This record gives sequence, structure tokens and C-alpha cells, in this order.
Amino acid sequence: MCGIVGYVGDGPALPVLIEGLRRLEYRGYDSAGIAVVDRGELQVVRKAGQLAALEAELDGRPLQGSTGIGHTRWATHGAPTDRNAHPHRDCTGRVAVIHNGIIENHDELRAELAARGHRFSSDTDTEVAAHLIEEAMADGVTLRAALMRTVARLEGAFALVVTAASEPGVVVAARKESPLIAGCGNGSGFVASDIPALLPYTRDVVPVDSGRLVEVRAGKVSLYSFDGTPVDPVPVHVDWDLEAAEKGGYEDFMLKEIHEQPAAVRDTMRDRFDVSGRIVLDDVRLDPADLRRVDKVVVVACGTSFHAGIAAKHAIEHYTRLPVELDLASEFRYRDPVLDRNSMVVGIAQSGETADTLAALRFARDMGAVIVAVTNVVGSSITRDADAVLFTHAGPEIGVAATKTFLAQLTALNLLALYLAQERASMPPERIAGTIAAMTRLPEQLEEVLTLEDDVRRAAKRLAGARDFLFIGRGVGMAVALEGALKLKEISYIHAEGYAAGELKHGAIALIEPGVPVVAIVTGRTHQDKMLANVEEVRARGAETILVANPGNRRAQALADELFEVPATKPLLSPVLDTVPLQMLAYFVAKERGLSPDKPRNLAKSVTVE
Ligand code: AGP
Repeated sequence: MCGIVGYVGDGPALPVLIEGLRRLEYRGYDSAGIAVVDRGELQVVRKAGQLAALEAELDGRPLQGSTGIGHTRWATHGAPTDRNAHPHRDCTGRVAVIHNGIIENHDELRAELAARGHRFSSDTDTEVAAHLIEEAMADGVTLRAALMRTVARLEGAFALVVTAASEPGVVVAARKESPLIAGCGNGSGFVASDIPALLPYTRDVVPVDSGRLVEVRAGKVSLYSFDGTPVDPVPVHVDWDLEAAEKGGYEDFMLKEIHEQPAAVRDTMRDRFDVSGRIVLDDVRLDPADLRRVDKVVVVACGTSFHAGIAAKHAIEHYTRLPVELDLASEFRYRDPVLDRNSMVVGIAQSGETADTLAALRFARDMGAVIVAVTNVVGSSITRDADAVLFTHAGPEIGVAATKTFLAQLTALNLLALYLAQERASMPPERIAGTIAAMTRLPEQLEEVLTLEDDVRRAAKRLAGARDFLFIGRGVGMAVALEGALKLKEISYIHAEGYAAGELKHGAIALIEPGVPVVAIVTGRTHQDKMLANVEEVRARGAETILVANPGNRRAQALADELFEVPATKPLLSPVLDTVPLQMLAYFVAKERGLSPDKPRNLAKSVTVE
């Protein structure tokens, strides 16, 4: 969840660290801090609040030194205060540590270290690492060796980055579970928790696997296993460009990313059809024999990715007639699921780092299932835990609320479902071709949906004062309803519920009173009549109705207080179009309420702890 960055080079470290933190701030913004080795001394500056607070603190304090580390925090242990802001130091003040993860045995280690005379100056789990390194270095070992000894004592998940006054020109880091990458370029070396921090300097990044230590010097990255054995670094090339990770004239990343959705969908489909229109997922490397023996599919994911999973369940079952189970990744391994080598488990995570999804996939792999990962990030942990990887090509998503990665997931999962149908011959080729034709029209149709922006902004102005929202849908419209509600909750802090429209009369309709906004997905024909009947029911009880419908739907026009018309497509593809007005609604409601959509309170872009 926290953002971490380390730099060694021949230029000043401070601007690189601040720039890195700016690019990682979406990972957490409870506090920020840096440590720079400056003329043999360690200078540490840290501050509660967003990065701007740290920058104000640094104003007029031009730190010299070309070795340093920086951290932006999502608090787990210890309140988000100055005292708990990273970096944390040892008793001598000559070792500084930053950390993403949770050190589970910190209480025990703290007691042990305190008994040996160490003084603690924070409430964090992280600080124990600084004191353990201090002890090891007191024995005269190098910083790398000291970190190696330290990680042997730690339980839990961590990406730790360390610098020491006695070793300028070196930053060392260790990874167990929590994400970590390294890279070098032009006489510099870097470590970071995520790719955007490295983009200004290099696009060849070295993923650091769990159980590895990394030592970074100017122009050099060296990897080791936790027992000190050298490991060859294997860089992966990232084709995201720098501009894509910047706002490009938009007020917020979220709005920019909403507008990038036609490209995200188009790029996710690119090169995935051959000249005869067959789907080719060669890059995914799914063994046809494995595909044919699969007798059940299980989809696991969290949050927005779970909503993409709902749409995937509908698509896979419809196209392939394979039974599909859908699980929240955080629940999956605790329900004693029935899996064997004929099961295919599809894990969806835009970040590729969600702790619960990774754990679910490892659990499924141990039971012999074929693991397919759907992710947006090359080199992410999920890619190493899977038998096959289907990448979405949405480019970097910085806004904490997932938008373009969701649409790219829906696209990729439809491709996967059709591919399974093609390889298992469960659907006639002409029906597959018809669906592909509809998919290729989506980017253009999305451009049309984006022209609704002014209408949505106007509606948001009117609705921003509401206390509760209900979002209802049926079939894949449920995925849209849940996603619309999640978007609104997470960035506008308005209570919102996504509901199966058919369940309304079993309870939720009691919530309806005059003025409660009800957003209903009434696109397509499959559920049209029933959805409109539900809209009539809530309207009769005074609800304010906001409808997402296809153009020319007279009944929808008559029943809507606000109407967002989106083009028609095949029913299973409709979430790709129907979700967009709801993303915009959440965005403009948040803006209307004076909130920052890119940095919603208490949230972080990737949830790397369980
Ligand atoms: C989406 O807007 C949320 N920020 C969140 O629910 C997210 O989708 C979830 O944490 C899963 O992330 P992942 O796709 O990286 O696994």
C-alpha cells in the first residue's frame, strides 16, 4: 500500500525522491518522508499529511547528497502522525528504513530489542528493522549483510529499503510479498514499489521476486536470495510512456483515465485476432490440452476486479457452457473450495499485487488448478504465480478509483471467454465472429458515451447533496450497478448500494423515500421489462430515477429524471459502455463536494496487505 523509492547516482537525490513520491502518492498519503546521506550524515525529514506537507517542510532546506530513500505512507501500525512517518531510524541515527507491508512479529522483536537497551521513537512495526540492522552493523558487517541478517528475523510481508550514513552510494532493499522493483540508467540506480517512479529514468525494470535482496549502486542492480546467493537480474521492458503517467491537461488523473478508455479497450484487443478473425492469445501461452480438459472455472478478485469477474462469469458460462464459480479473493481460501487439475482459476487484479488475490491463486495452484492471471502490470507478482497471463493494455492508472483498467478487464475477460469457446468448439465460429465484430466497435461507441460528460456533470450538481444512492441492475447489469455504487462510495463518501433489482422487494425497497436517487441499468433487451417495472416501483415511492438506457427507449425516457443514453451492443459487452456514465457521475459528484477523486481518504491503489 505505501509507496517506496530509493535512489543512488551522481546527481542530487532529493529531487529524484520527491518526483518518485509524487508518482507513487496514489499508494498512500497519510504521511511522507525522505532520508538522504548528506556529507556523511543521515538527514531525515518527514511529515504527516500529503506530499505537499513534506515539500513545505523541506522548503529552504536544500539537502545535498546523492543517496537517499523516500516513503509515502498508508498507515497500518501507528496513527498517521509525524512521529510514525517513515523513514525510521536506529538509536544512532545512522541507519534509515522505509517499509511497505506488515511485520507480524514486531511486538516480540520490540520487546527483545528494548530489553537490550534500544530506544524506540515511533509506534510502527517498521522501526524494529532499523534497530536490528543497527545491531548487525555494530558487528562490522556491510549494510547488505546486516539487512540479510535482519530479514531472517522478520515474519509477515515487507518491502524494506535501507540506507546508512556509513555507506553512501548504496541502497539495499529486501522483498517478502510486498511489491518491489529496481532499475538503473545513466549512472543511477533505483528501487521502488511501482513502475511510475522509474519511468522518467528507465523503462527496463527488474522485478524483485519475493525472497530476494537487492543492492543498488550508481548504474548497477545486484540481486541475491535471502541466503546471500547471487541471482541474475532479468529486466522486463515496460512500454508505458512518461506522458501516460501524467495528467496531460486534465484536472485529475481519474478524469483523464475515464477519457483514455476507448484506447484502453482498443489496445487490449490489439494483435489478438489473426487474419481470419480467430482469437489468438499466443502471448498468454495457454496449453490447448489444458483448455480442453478444464471442467470448471473459478474467478477470484477483489473490489472493481471482482465486478469484472461477475461479467466474466456470465460470459464464460454463456460462451463455453462451463460452470463458473465466482469468489471474493479474501473469502476464497477460507471456504474449503473444491479444486483439482481440471479446474481453471482466473485471478483478476489490475495491480497484480493484491495480497488476497495472490494468496487465493497460490492456494489454487497448490491444489493443482491451472492458473490464469489477468493484470495490467508487467512484472507484477501475479504474473509470476500464474501458468498463463492475459495482460490488459490500459497503461498506467494513477487514480485510486479503477476506471480504464476495469473496462480493459471486461474486454480481456470477454476475449478469454471467446477464446475458450473457440478452442473447445462450444460456440459456432460465426457467432464468435459476430461477437468479435461487436467488440471492435466498442472503442468508437465509447467515444460517443464520453460526449455525455456535460449531461452527467449537470446531473451530478443536482444529486451531490444526496445521502444515499441505490444502484440496481440484472444480469451483467449487476456488475455495472455494483461498480457504479463502489465508485460513488469511494470517491464521494456518499453511502451507495449496488443491488440486484430483483432483490429490491425482498428488503431494500424499504430504503426508498422521496428524493432517494436510484440509478438503474436498463440497457439491452434481456431484462428490459423487468428493470423498467422495478424503476416504476421505486418511482411510485418517490425515488429520483437516473437511468442508463439505449437511445430511443421511450419508456425509459418517460420514467427517467436523468437519462444517460449509451449505444446498444451485445448484452454481454454492455458493461463496457454502461459503466462509463456512472464513473463520470461519481467523479463529478466528488468534485461538487469539494473532494479529491484521485486520493480518496483511507484508500490506496493496491492493497498489498490482507
Ligand atoms: C477500485 O476502484 C478500488 N480502488 C479497489 O476496489 C480495487 O479494485 C481493488 O483493491 C482490487 O485491486 P486490484 O485490481 O489491483 O486487485
